[in-house]
Amino acid sequence: MNAVRAEVIATRRLDLMPLLVEHADEMAVVLSDPALYTFIGGAPDTPQDLRSRYERMAAGAPDPAVRWLNWVIRLREAACLTGTVQATVSPSGRGLVSEIAWVVGTPWQGRGIATEAARGLVAWLGEQPVESVIAHIHPEHQASAAVATAAGLAPTDERQEGEIRWYRGIRR
Ligand SMILES: CC(C)(COP(=O)(O)OP(=O)(O)OC[C@H]1O[C@@H](n2cnc3c(N)ncnc32)[C@H](O)[C@@H]1OP(=O)(O)O)[C@@H](O)C(=O)NCCC(=O)NCCS
Repeated sequence: MNAVRAEVIATRRLDLMPLLVEHADEMAVVLSDPALYTFIGGAPDTPQDLRSRYERMAAGAPDPAVRWLNWVIRLREAACLTGTVQATVSPSGRGLVSEIAWVVGTPWQGRGIATEAARGLVAWLGEQPVESVIAHIHPEHQASAAVATAAGLAPTDERQEGEIRWYRGIRR
């Protein structure tokens, strides 16, 4: 059983808010550009499909040892949602490992939002009983590699389904 729970994470410009089913309608617009799915696969969800997806996320992972933690990224000054970050926290041979990922809606890209959100998320994970952070990134996805680097992760030699595994140990 792992006890890590999503909390509000505040950074300079952003509030990372634990994701709720009620965020689905606004997020369906934020995530509506098909180009967002070039590297991560899939296609935009309708608001109804996104509500169903968020309901499944809120129900949590079937394995009680695994936590699905999801946040929407709220740009405080504009009072609007701009993307999501997620952390899947699971047991590993060496304590809890958190796999993280990020998406920022096309109109909001290029403003450092993913970088600020990922840094805030990794800093928060550093306060949890988590030993390491990983991400899987397509080798040609330069923007995501830059986000991971800024959050203190480094590429490894490991591959998973064609993606590079990035890693950061958490020191206390
Ligand atoms: C990856 C993603 C989250 C980046 O969001 P963002 O808010 O635009 O990122 P930032 O503004 O923080 O920029 C991050 C870095 O990427 C660079 N970058 C942004 N767009 C880029 C592009 N098209 N090509 C190359 N680099 C790019 C920025 O210059 C910045 O690098 P720097 O810190 O060295 O200047 C966004 O492109 C996205 O959601 N893509 C689709 C979903 C996805 O692939 N998620 C990743 C799953 S691992």
